[in-house]
Amino acid sequence: MTTATEAWQALADWQPRPLAELVAADPDARFQAFVRRVADIRFDFAKTHLDDAALAILSRLAEAQDFAGRRKTLFSGGIVNPTEDRAAEHSAERGDGAPDSVHRAQALHQRMRMLVDAIEAGAFGEIRHLLHIGIGGSALGPDLLVDALGRHDRRYDVTVVSNVDGAALSEAFAKFDPEYTLVAVASKTFTTTETLLNAASALQWLEEGGVEDPSGRFVALTANPDKAMEWGIDETRILPFRETIGGRYSLWSSIGFPAALALGWDAFAELLEGAAEMDRHFRLAEGADNICLLAAFADQLYANRLGCQTRAVFAYDERLRLLPSYLQQLEMESNGKGVTLDGEPLGRASAAITWGGVGTDAQHAVFQLLHQGTHLVPVEFVVAREADDLLDAAHHETLVANCIAQGAALMAGRASEDGARAYPGNRPSATILLEQVTPHQLGALIAFYEHRVFANAVLLGINPFDQFGVELGKEMAKGLAEGTVDFDPATQALMQAVLGE
Ligand code: F6P
Repeated sequence: MTTATEAWQALADWQPRPLAELVAADPDARFQAFVRRVADIRFDFAKTHLDDAALAILSRLAEAQDFAGRRKTLFSGGIVNPTEDRAAEHSAERGDGAPDSVHRAQALHQRMRMLVDAIEAGAFGEIRHLLHIGIGGSALGPDLLVDALGRHDRRYDVTVVSNVDGAALSEAFAKFDPEYTLVAVASKTFTTTETLLNAASALQWLEEGGVEDPSGRFVALTANPDKAMEWGIDETRILPFRETIGGRYSLWSSIGFPAALALGWDAFAELLEGAAEMDRHFRLAEGADNICLLAAFADQLYANRLGCQTRAVFAYDERLRLLPSYLQQLEMESNGKGVTLDGEPLGRASAAITWGGVGTDAQHAVFQLLHQGTHLVPVEFVVAREADDLLDAAHHETLVANCIAQGAALMAGRASEDGARAYPGNRPSATILLEQVTPHQLGALIAFYEHRVFANAVLLGINPFDQFGVELGKEMAKGLAEGTVDFDPATQALMQAVLGE
Protein backbone atom coordinates (compact mmCIF):
# COMPACT_ATOMS: atom_id res chain seq x y z
CA MET A 1 0.00 0.00 0.00
CA THR A 2 1.16 3.55 -0.74
CA THR A 3 2.20 5.53 2.32
CA ALA A 4 0.94 9.06 2.90
CA THR A 5 4.44 10.41 2.20
CA GLU A 6 4.51 8.64 -1.15
CA ALA A 7 1.05 9.93 -2.03
CA TRP A 8 2.04 13.53 -1.18
CA GLN A 9 5.17 13.08 -3.31
CA ALA A 10 3.05 11.79 -6.20
CA LEU A 11 0.83 14.84 -5.85
CA ALA A 12 3.90 17.09 -6.00
CA ASP A 13 4.90 15.39 -9.27
CA TRP A 14 1.41 15.60 -10.76
CA GLN A 15 0.98 18.30 -13.42
CA PRO A 16 -2.29 20.20 -13.91
CA ARG A 17 -3.88 20.33 -17.33
CA PRO A 18 -5.74 23.43 -18.56
CA LEU A 19 -9.34 23.44 -17.37
CA ALA A 20 -10.85 24.15 -20.76
CA GLU A 21 -9.01 21.16 -22.18
CA LEU A 22 -10.17 18.89 -19.36
CA VAL A 23 -13.78 19.90 -19.88
CA ALA A 24 -13.71 19.74 -23.68
CA ALA A 25 -11.92 16.39 -24.00
CA ASP A 26 -14.79 14.11 -23.01
CA PRO A 27 -17.57 16.10 -21.36
CA ASP A 28 -19.71 13.09 -20.44
CA ALA A 29 -16.86 11.29 -18.75
CA ARG A 30 -15.97 14.49 -16.93
CA PHE A 31 -19.51 15.00 -15.62
CA GLN A 32 -19.65 11.35 -14.62
CA ALA A 33 -16.44 11.71 -12.63
CA PHE A 34 -16.84 15.17 -11.13
CA VAL A 35 -20.55 15.93 -10.78
CA ARG A 36 -22.69 14.30 -8.06
CA ARG A 37 -26.28 14.62 -7.04
CA VAL A 38 -26.89 14.04 -3.35
CA ALA A 39 -29.99 14.99 -1.36
CA ASP A 40 -31.28 16.68 -4.52
CA ILE A 41 -28.30 19.02 -4.58
CA ARG A 42 -26.03 19.08 -7.62
CA PHE A 43 -22.36 19.34 -6.70
CA ASP A 44 -20.40 20.28 -9.79
CA PHE A 45 -16.61 20.01 -9.63
CA ALA A 46 -16.18 19.72 -13.42
CA LYS A 47 -14.45 23.11 -13.66
CA THR A 48 -11.69 22.19 -11.21
CA HIS A 49 -8.24 20.85 -12.04
CA LEU A 50 -9.08 17.44 -10.60
CA ASP A 51 -8.42 14.77 -13.21
CA ASP A 52 -8.22 10.99 -13.16
CA ALA A 53 -4.55 10.98 -12.21
CA ALA A 54 -5.12 13.40 -9.32
CA LEU A 55 -8.09 11.33 -8.17
CA ALA A 56 -5.98 8.20 -8.14
CA ILE A 57 -3.24 9.88 -6.08
CA LEU A 58 -5.65 11.47 -3.62
CA SER A 59 -7.55 8.20 -3.27
CA ARG A 60 -4.28 6.53 -2.32
CA LEU A 61 -3.69 9.30 0.21
CA ALA A 62 -7.17 8.70 1.67
CA GLU A 63 -6.39 5.03 1.98
CA ALA A 64 -3.01 5.67 3.54
CA GLN A 65 -4.63 8.01 6.08
CA ASP A 66 -7.26 5.35 6.86
CA PHE A 67 -10.17 7.48 5.74
CA ALA A 68 -12.63 4.57 6.01
CA GLY A 69 -11.44 3.69 9.51
CA ARG A 70 -11.57 7.24 10.81
CA ARG A 71 -15.01 7.76 9.31
CA LYS A 72 -16.18 4.62 11.09
CA THR A 73 -14.77 5.91 14.36
CA LEU A 74 -16.59 9.22 13.82
CA PHE A 75 -19.98 7.59 13.31
CA SER A 76 -19.57 5.00 16.03
CA GLY A 77 -18.86 7.60 18.70
CA GLY A 78 -15.16 6.73 19.07
CA ILE A 79 -12.53 9.26 20.08
CA VAL A 80 -11.83 11.50 17.09
CA ASN A 81 -10.77 14.45 19.24
CA PRO A 82 -7.83 12.95 21.13
CA THR A 83 -6.52 16.20 22.63
CA GLU A 84 -9.79 16.53 24.53
CA ASP A 85 -10.40 12.78 24.70
CA ARG A 86 -13.80 13.15 23.06
CA ALA A 87 -16.04 11.80 20.36
CA ALA A 88 -17.71 14.19 17.91
CA GLU A 89 -21.37 13.21 17.85
CA HIS A 90 -23.11 15.88 15.79
CA SER A 91 -24.38 13.28 13.32
CA ALA A 92 -26.15 11.48 16.20
CA GLU A 93 -28.24 14.66 16.59
CA ARG A 94 -29.54 13.81 13.13
CA GLY A 95 -30.11 10.14 13.95
CA ASP A 96 -26.87 8.64 12.65
CA GLY A 97 -24.48 7.38 15.30
CA ALA A 98 -24.09 4.97 18.17
CA PRO A 99 -27.59 3.90 19.39
CA ASP A 100 -27.12 5.29 22.92
CA SER A 101 -25.95 8.57 21.56
CA VAL A 102 -28.89 8.83 19.15
CA HIS A 103 -31.35 8.09 21.99
CA ARG A 104 -29.79 10.73 24.20
CA ALA A 105 -29.96 13.29 21.37
CA GLN A 106 -33.60 12.44 20.74
CA ALA A 107 -34.47 12.84 24.42
CA LEU A 108 -32.80 16.26 24.48
CA HIS A 109 -34.64 17.26 21.31
CA GLN A 110 -37.87 16.20 22.96
CA ARG A 111 -37.11 18.49 25.87
CA MET A 112 -36.48 21.35 23.45
CA ARG A 113 -39.71 20.62 21.63
CA MET A 114 -41.67 20.74 24.87
CA LEU A 115 -40.24 24.15 25.65
CA VAL A 116 -41.13 25.40 22.16
CA ASP A 117 -44.69 24.09 22.68
CA ALA A 118 -44.90 25.75 26.10
CA ILE A 119 -43.81 29.11 24.68
CA GLU A 120 -46.35 28.79 21.90
CA ALA A 121 -49.01 27.91 24.45
CA GLY A 122 -48.28 31.14 26.35
CA ALA A 123 -46.40 29.76 29.36
CA PHE A 124 -44.21 32.87 29.28
CA GLY A 125 -47.03 35.28 28.53
CA GLU A 126 -47.21 36.81 25.09
CA ILE A 127 -43.80 36.37 23.46
CA ARG A 128 -43.11 38.17 20.19
CA HIS A 129 -39.33 38.54 20.20
CA LEU A 130 -36.45 36.21 20.86
CA LEU A 131 -33.12 37.75 21.76
CA HIS A 132 -30.50 35.07 21.21
CA ILE A 133 -27.18 35.80 22.92
CA GLY A 134 -24.15 33.69 22.03
CA ILE A 135 -20.94 33.89 20.03
CA GLY A 136 -18.99 31.77 17.53
CA GLY A 137 -20.67 28.40 17.11
CA SER A 138 -23.34 29.44 19.57
CA ALA A 139 -24.47 32.23 17.24
CA LEU A 140 -23.41 31.69 13.63
CA GLY A 141 -25.49 28.57 13.00
CA PRO A 142 -28.79 29.79 14.47
CA ASP A 143 -28.32 33.14 12.76
CA LEU A 144 -27.79 31.45 9.39
CA LEU A 145 -30.84 29.21 9.82
CA VAL A 146 -33.24 31.93 10.85
CA ASP A 147 -31.96 34.37 8.25
CA ALA A 148 -32.11 31.82 5.43
CA LEU A 149 -35.36 30.08 6.25
CA GLY A 150 -37.40 32.57 8.22
CA ARG A 151 -37.73 35.43 5.80
CA HIS A 152 -41.44 35.13 5.11
CA ASP A 153 -43.27 33.40 7.89
CA ARG A 154 -41.10 33.47 10.94
CA ARG A 155 -43.35 33.31 13.95
CA TYR A 156 -41.15 35.36 16.28
CA ASP A 157 -38.73 38.19 15.61
CA VAL A 158 -35.32 36.75 16.29
CA THR A 159 -32.18 38.80 16.76
CA VAL A 160 -28.85 37.15 17.36
CA VAL A 161 -26.39 39.25 19.32
CA SER A 162 -22.82 38.04 19.55
CA ASN A 163 -20.45 40.99 19.79
CA VAL A 164 -19.52 42.32 23.20
CA ASP A 165 -19.61 45.80 21.66
CA GLY A 166 -22.60 47.35 23.44
CA ALA A 167 -23.74 48.81 20.13
CA ALA A 168 -24.90 45.35 19.05
CA LEU A 169 -27.07 44.80 22.09
CA SER A 170 -28.40 48.38 22.12
CA GLU A 171 -29.59 47.92 18.57
CA ALA A 172 -31.56 44.83 19.60
CA PHE A 173 -33.01 46.61 22.65
CA ALA A 174 -34.18 49.44 20.43
CA LYS A 175 -36.14 47.02 18.26
CA PHE A 176 -37.72 44.94 21.00
CA ASP A 177 -40.26 45.55 23.74
CA PRO A 178 -39.05 43.93 27.00
CA GLU A 179 -42.63 42.99 27.85
CA TYR A 180 -42.77 40.56 24.91
CA THR A 181 -39.16 39.38 24.83
CA LEU A 182 -37.64 36.01 25.67
CA VAL A 183 -33.84 35.79 26.01
CA ALA A 184 -31.92 32.66 25.03
CA VAL A 185 -28.35 32.49 26.35
CA ALA A 186 -26.41 30.08 24.17
CA SER A 187 -23.04 28.94 25.39
CA LYS A 188 -21.60 25.46 25.39
CA THR A 189 -19.32 26.25 28.33
CA PHE A 190 -21.44 28.99 29.91
CA THR A 191 -18.19 30.76 30.74
CA THR A 192 -17.68 32.90 27.63
CA THR A 193 -17.01 36.50 28.67
CA GLU A 194 -18.85 38.22 25.84
CA THR A 195 -21.96 36.10 26.22
CA LEU A 196 -22.19 36.44 29.99
CA LEU A 197 -21.71 40.20 29.84
CA ASN A 198 -24.38 40.54 27.17
CA ALA A 199 -26.71 38.28 29.18
CA ALA A 200 -26.22 40.40 32.30
CA SER A 201 -27.06 43.55 30.34
CA ALA A 202 -30.15 41.89 28.89
CA LEU A 203 -31.29 40.97 32.40
CA GLN A 204 -30.88 44.57 33.47
CA TRP A 205 -32.81 45.74 30.42
CA LEU A 206 -35.73 43.45 31.30
CA GLU A 207 -35.65 44.68 34.92
CA GLU A 208 -35.60 48.31 33.86
CA GLY A 209 -38.32 47.56 31.33
CA GLY A 210 -40.65 46.62 34.18
CA VAL A 211 -40.83 42.89 33.46
CA GLU A 212 -42.16 41.18 36.58
CA ASP A 213 -39.90 38.14 36.70
CA PRO A 214 -36.91 39.06 34.48
CA SER A 215 -34.82 35.96 35.12
CA GLY A 216 -37.91 33.87 34.33
CA ARG A 217 -37.62 35.17 30.75
CA PHE A 218 -34.25 33.49 30.30
CA VAL A 219 -33.62 30.18 28.60
CA ALA A 220 -30.16 28.58 28.58
CA LEU A 221 -28.79 26.45 25.72
CA THR A 222 -25.69 24.80 27.09
CA ALA A 223 -23.58 21.73 27.75
CA ASN A 224 -22.87 23.08 31.23
CA PRO A 225 -26.26 23.26 33.00
CA ASP A 226 -24.66 23.72 36.43
CA LYS A 227 -23.05 26.97 35.36
CA ALA A 228 -26.33 28.17 33.85
CA MET A 229 -28.11 27.43 37.13
CA GLU A 230 -25.38 29.23 39.05
CA TRP A 231 -25.97 32.21 36.77
CA GLY A 232 -29.62 32.19 37.83
CA ILE A 233 -31.50 30.26 35.18
CA ASP A 234 -33.95 27.73 36.52
CA GLU A 235 -33.31 24.09 35.62
CA THR A 236 -36.72 23.86 33.87
CA ARG A 237 -35.57 26.48 31.37
CA ILE A 238 -32.23 24.92 30.56
CA LEU A 239 -31.93 22.99 27.31
CA PRO A 240 -28.79 20.92 27.63
CA PHE A 241 -26.72 19.41 24.89
CA ARG A 242 -23.82 17.01 25.06
CA GLU A 243 -20.12 17.74 25.56
CA THR A 244 -19.40 15.73 22.43
CA ILE A 245 -21.14 18.32 20.25
CA GLY A 246 -18.51 20.86 19.22
CA GLY A 247 -19.52 24.53 19.26
CA ARG A 248 -19.23 24.92 15.48
CA TYR A 249 -21.17 21.67 14.97
CA SER A 250 -23.93 22.52 17.42
CA LEU A 251 -26.78 24.06 15.45
CA TRP A 252 -28.49 20.65 15.39
CA SER A 253 -28.67 20.54 19.18
CA SER A 254 -30.47 22.94 21.51
CA ILE A 255 -28.27 25.70 20.07
CA GLY A 256 -30.74 25.51 17.15
CA PHE A 257 -33.56 26.54 19.52
CA PRO A 258 -34.20 29.93 17.80
CA ALA A 259 -34.72 28.11 14.51
CA ALA A 260 -37.05 25.55 16.09
CA LEU A 261 -39.06 28.34 17.71
CA ALA A 262 -39.13 30.79 14.81
CA LEU A 263 -39.57 28.30 11.97
CA GLY A 264 -41.59 25.70 13.85
CA TRP A 265 -40.68 22.20 14.94
CA ASP A 266 -41.54 20.60 11.59
CA ALA A 267 -39.01 22.80 9.81
CA PHE A 268 -36.35 21.96 12.39
CA ALA A 269 -37.09 18.24 11.96
CA GLU A 270 -36.73 18.63 8.17
CA LEU A 271 -33.39 20.34 8.66
CA LEU A 272 -32.19 17.34 10.69
CA GLU A 273 -33.53 14.94 8.07
CA GLY A 274 -31.68 16.78 5.29
CA ALA A 275 -28.45 16.52 7.26
CA ALA A 276 -29.17 12.84 7.93
CA GLU A 277 -29.43 12.23 4.19
CA MET A 278 -25.95 13.69 3.75
CA ASP A 279 -24.72 11.66 6.73
CA ARG A 280 -25.89 8.46 5.05
CA HIS A 281 -24.14 9.42 1.84
CA PHE A 282 -20.93 10.33 3.63
CA ARG A 283 -20.97 7.17 5.72
CA LEU A 284 -21.70 4.81 2.81
CA ALA A 285 -20.34 6.23 -0.45
CA GLU A 286 -16.89 4.94 -1.28
CA GLY A 287 -13.89 6.79 -2.66
CA ALA A 288 -14.46 9.66 -5.04
CA ASP A 289 -18.16 8.77 -5.28
CA ASN A 290 -18.34 10.38 -1.89
CA ILE A 291 -19.01 14.05 -2.57
CA CYS A 292 -17.53 15.25 0.73
CA LEU A 293 -14.31 13.37 0.02
CA LEU A 294 -14.25 14.53 -3.60
CA ALA A 295 -14.57 18.15 -2.46
CA ALA A 296 -11.75 17.58 0.04
CA PHE A 297 -9.62 16.18 -2.81
CA ALA A 298 -10.11 19.47 -4.66
CA ASP A 299 -9.26 21.40 -1.48
CA GLN A 300 -6.00 19.48 -1.02
CA LEU A 301 -5.10 19.83 -4.68
CA TYR A 302 -5.42 23.60 -4.50
CA ALA A 303 -3.93 24.11 -1.03
CA ASN A 304 -1.10 21.63 -1.21
CA ARG A 305 -0.22 21.35 -4.88
CA LEU A 306 -1.26 24.56 -6.58
CA GLY A 307 -0.31 26.87 -3.69
CA CYS A 308 -3.70 28.48 -3.11
CA GLN A 309 -3.89 30.05 0.31
CA THR A 310 -7.55 30.96 0.14
CA ARG A 311 -10.84 29.59 -1.09
CA ALA A 312 -13.78 31.90 -1.85
CA VAL A 313 -17.46 31.01 -1.41
CA PHE A 314 -20.11 33.15 -3.03
CA ALA A 315 -23.76 32.62 -2.24
CA TYR A 316 -25.81 33.65 -5.23
CA ASP A 317 -28.86 33.86 -3.04
CA GLU A 318 -29.67 36.54 -0.53
CA ARG A 319 -31.06 33.90 1.82
CA LEU A 320 -27.62 32.35 2.11
CA ARG A 321 -25.78 35.61 2.72
CA LEU A 322 -24.57 34.40 6.12
CA LEU A 323 -23.18 31.14 4.72
CA PRO A 324 -19.63 32.46 4.07
CA SER A 325 -19.20 33.68 7.65
CA TYR A 326 -20.67 30.45 9.00
CA LEU A 327 -18.17 28.49 6.90
CA GLN A 328 -15.28 30.64 8.07
CA GLN A 329 -15.63 29.33 11.60
CA LEU A 330 -16.48 25.79 10.55
CA GLU A 331 -13.49 25.46 8.23
CA MET A 332 -10.84 27.65 9.82
CA GLU A 333 -11.49 26.88 13.49
CA SER A 334 -11.62 23.17 12.61
CA ASN A 335 -8.67 22.81 10.30
CA GLY A 336 -6.52 25.84 11.03
CA LYS A 337 -3.98 23.63 12.80
CA GLY A 338 -0.21 23.35 12.71
CA VAL A 339 0.36 19.88 14.14
CA THR A 340 -0.69 16.37 13.19
CA LEU A 341 -2.62 13.97 15.40
CA ASP A 342 0.74 12.78 16.72
CA GLY A 343 1.71 16.31 17.71
CA GLU A 344 4.32 16.59 14.94
CA PRO A 345 4.60 19.76 12.82
CA LEU A 346 2.12 19.45 9.95
CA GLY A 347 4.64 20.53 7.35
CA ARG A 348 2.06 21.51 4.73
CA ALA A 349 -0.84 23.92 4.32
CA SER A 350 -3.77 23.27 6.63
CA ALA A 351 -7.15 24.88 5.99
CA ALA A 352 -7.35 27.38 3.21
CA ILE A 353 -8.49 30.81 4.37
CA THR A 354 -12.21 30.83 3.69
CA TRP A 355 -13.67 34.07 2.53
CA GLY A 356 -16.47 35.17 0.25
CA GLY A 357 -19.68 37.09 -0.02
CA VAL A 358 -22.93 37.37 -1.90
CA GLY A 359 -23.46 37.43 -5.63
CA THR A 360 -24.03 39.53 -7.57
CA ASP A 361 -22.76 42.20 -5.13
CA ALA A 362 -19.32 40.61 -4.88
CA GLN A 363 -18.88 40.82 -8.66
CA HIS A 364 -18.72 44.58 -8.31
CA ALA A 365 -16.24 44.47 -5.46
CA VAL A 366 -13.80 41.55 -5.40
CA PHE A 367 -14.16 39.67 -8.69
CA GLN A 368 -11.59 41.88 -10.38
CA LEU A 369 -8.92 40.08 -8.36
CA LEU A 370 -10.43 36.68 -9.08
CA HIS A 371 -10.30 37.29 -12.84
CA GLN A 372 -7.04 39.16 -13.24
CA GLY A 373 -5.19 39.24 -9.93
CA THR A 374 -2.02 37.28 -9.35
CA HIS A 375 -3.57 34.99 -6.72
CA LEU A 376 -5.12 31.75 -7.83
CA VAL A 377 -8.35 31.42 -5.83
CA PRO A 378 -10.60 28.38 -6.13
CA VAL A 379 -14.12 29.77 -6.14
CA GLU A 380 -17.29 28.07 -4.97
CA PHE A 381 -20.73 29.23 -6.10
CA VAL A 382 -23.83 28.26 -4.13
CA VAL A 383 -27.07 28.94 -5.94
CA ALA A 384 -30.67 27.74 -5.92
CA ARG A 385 -32.73 26.82 -8.97
CA GLU A 386 -35.92 28.26 -7.54
CA ALA A 387 -36.33 31.86 -6.48
CA ASP A 388 -37.58 33.05 -3.17
CA ASP A 389 -38.58 36.52 -4.21
CA LEU A 390 -42.07 37.43 -5.21
CA LEU A 391 -40.91 39.77 -7.94
CA ASP A 392 -40.98 38.92 -11.59
CA ALA A 393 -38.75 36.13 -12.84
CA ALA A 394 -36.21 38.54 -14.33
CA HIS A 395 -34.50 38.94 -10.94
CA HIS A 396 -33.79 35.28 -10.40
CA GLU A 397 -32.90 34.70 -14.04
CA THR A 398 -30.39 37.53 -13.93
CA LEU A 399 -28.94 36.27 -10.65
CA VAL A 400 -28.47 32.72 -11.88
CA ALA A 401 -27.17 33.81 -15.29
CA ASN A 402 -24.51 35.88 -13.56
CA CYS A 403 -23.47 32.99 -11.37
CA ILE A 404 -23.09 30.62 -14.30
CA ALA A 405 -21.35 33.24 -16.42
CA GLN A 406 -18.77 33.94 -13.74
CA GLY A 407 -17.71 30.29 -13.58
CA ALA A 408 -17.47 30.13 -17.36
CA ALA A 409 -15.50 33.40 -17.59
CA LEU A 410 -13.06 32.37 -14.87
CA MET A 411 -12.32 29.20 -16.78
CA ALA A 412 -12.29 30.54 -20.35
CA GLY A 413 -10.54 33.87 -19.84
CA ARG A 414 -9.98 36.04 -22.89
CA ALA A 415 -6.84 36.86 -24.80
CA SER A 416 -6.03 40.46 -25.67
CA GLU A 417 -3.09 42.34 -27.09
CA ASP A 418 -3.71 44.86 -24.37
CA GLY A 419 -2.49 43.28 -21.13
CA ALA A 420 -4.90 45.30 -19.00
CA ARG A 421 -7.80 43.80 -20.91
CA ALA A 422 -6.55 40.23 -21.02
CA TYR A 423 -8.05 37.54 -18.79
CA PRO A 424 -5.73 34.61 -18.16
CA GLY A 425 -8.58 32.14 -17.53
CA ASN A 426 -7.92 28.60 -16.32
CA ARG A 427 -9.30 29.69 -12.95
CA PRO A 428 -11.23 27.00 -11.13
CA SER A 429 -14.72 27.02 -9.69
CA ALA A 430 -17.19 24.55 -8.23
CA THR A 431 -20.93 25.12 -8.31
CA ILE A 432 -23.39 23.80 -5.76
CA LEU A 433 -26.91 23.96 -7.09
CA LEU A 434 -29.79 23.59 -4.66
CA GLU A 435 -33.32 23.04 -5.90
CA GLN A 436 -34.66 25.48 -3.35
CA VAL A 437 -33.52 26.88 -0.04
CA THR A 438 -35.62 24.56 2.13
CA PRO A 439 -34.79 23.28 5.63
CA HIS A 440 -34.06 19.86 4.12
CA GLN A 441 -31.65 21.18 1.51
CA LEU A 442 -29.94 23.57 3.90
CA GLY A 443 -29.49 20.75 6.41
CA ALA A 444 -27.88 18.59 3.74
CA LEU A 445 -25.68 21.47 2.56
CA ILE A 446 -24.36 22.27 6.04
CA ALA A 447 -23.72 18.58 6.75
CA PHE A 448 -21.83 18.38 3.44
CA TYR A 449 -19.51 21.15 4.62
CA GLU A 450 -19.05 19.51 8.03
CA HIS A 451 -18.04 16.20 6.47
CA ARG A 452 -15.81 17.90 3.93
CA VAL A 453 -13.96 19.51 6.83
CA PHE A 454 -13.59 16.09 8.45
CA ALA A 455 -12.40 14.53 5.18
CA ASN A 456 -9.78 17.28 4.82
CA ALA A 457 -8.63 16.68 8.39
CA VAL A 458 -8.23 12.97 7.69
CA LEU A 459 -6.21 13.63 4.53
CA LEU A 460 -3.96 15.98 6.49
CA GLY A 461 -3.83 13.78 9.59
CA ILE A 462 -5.00 16.56 11.94
CA ASN A 463 -7.64 16.93 14.65
CA PRO A 464 -10.51 19.14 13.41
CA PHE A 465 -12.40 19.11 16.71
CA ASP A 466 -10.27 21.11 19.15
CA GLN A 467 -9.52 24.86 19.06
CA PHE A 468 -6.72 25.65 21.47
CA GLY A 469 -5.62 28.48 19.19
CA VAL A 470 -8.36 30.74 20.52
CA GLU A 471 -7.32 30.44 24.16
CA LEU A 472 -4.18 32.59 24.36
CA GLY A 473 -5.89 35.78 23.18
CA LYS A 474 -8.76 35.19 25.61
CA GLU A 475 -6.34 34.74 28.52
CA MET A 476 -4.41 37.84 27.58
CA ALA A 477 -7.56 39.95 27.30
CA LYS A 478 -8.49 38.81 30.79
CA GLY A 479 -4.98 39.56 32.04
CA LEU A 480 -5.15 43.02 30.51
CA ALA A 481 -8.50 43.79 32.09
CA GLU A 482 -7.35 42.53 35.48
CA GLY A 483 -3.83 43.94 35.23
CA THR A 484 -2.36 40.52 36.01
CA VAL A 485 -0.12 40.04 32.98
CA ASP A 486 3.13 41.85 32.18
CA PHE A 487 2.80 43.00 28.61
CA ASP A 488 5.55 43.97 26.20
CA PRO A 489 6.38 47.70 25.83
CA ALA A 490 4.51 48.11 22.55
CA THR A 491 1.31 46.68 24.04
CA GLN A 492 1.72 48.79 27.18
CA ALA A 493 2.08 51.93 25.08
CA LEU A 494 -1.03 51.02 23.14
CA MET A 495 -2.96 50.46 26.34
CA GLN A 496 -1.85 53.82 27.66
CA ALA A 497 -3.01 55.45 24.45
CA VAL A 498 -6.40 53.78 24.83
CA LEU A 499 -6.66 54.95 28.42
CA GLY A 500 -5.66 58.45 27.34
CA GLU A 501 -2.62 58.50 29.66
O1 F6P B 1 -13.55 31.08 21.11
C1 F6P B 1 -13.87 29.97 20.38
C2 F6P B 1 -15.08 29.25 20.92
O2 F6P B 1 -14.71 28.38 21.93
C3 F6P B 1 -15.80 28.53 19.81
O3 F6P B 1 -15.28 27.31 19.53
C4 F6P B 1 -17.19 28.52 20.31
O4 F6P B 1 -18.10 28.27 19.29
C5 F6P B 1 -17.31 29.90 20.90
O5 F6P B 1 -16.04 30.15 21.46
C6 F6P B 1 -18.36 30.08 21.94
O6 F6P B 1 -18.17 29.24 23.04
P1 F6P B 1 -19.34 28.92 24.01
O7 F6P B 1 -20.43 28.28 23.25
O8 F6P B 1 -18.77 28.02 25.07
O9 F6P B 1 -19.81 30.23 24.62
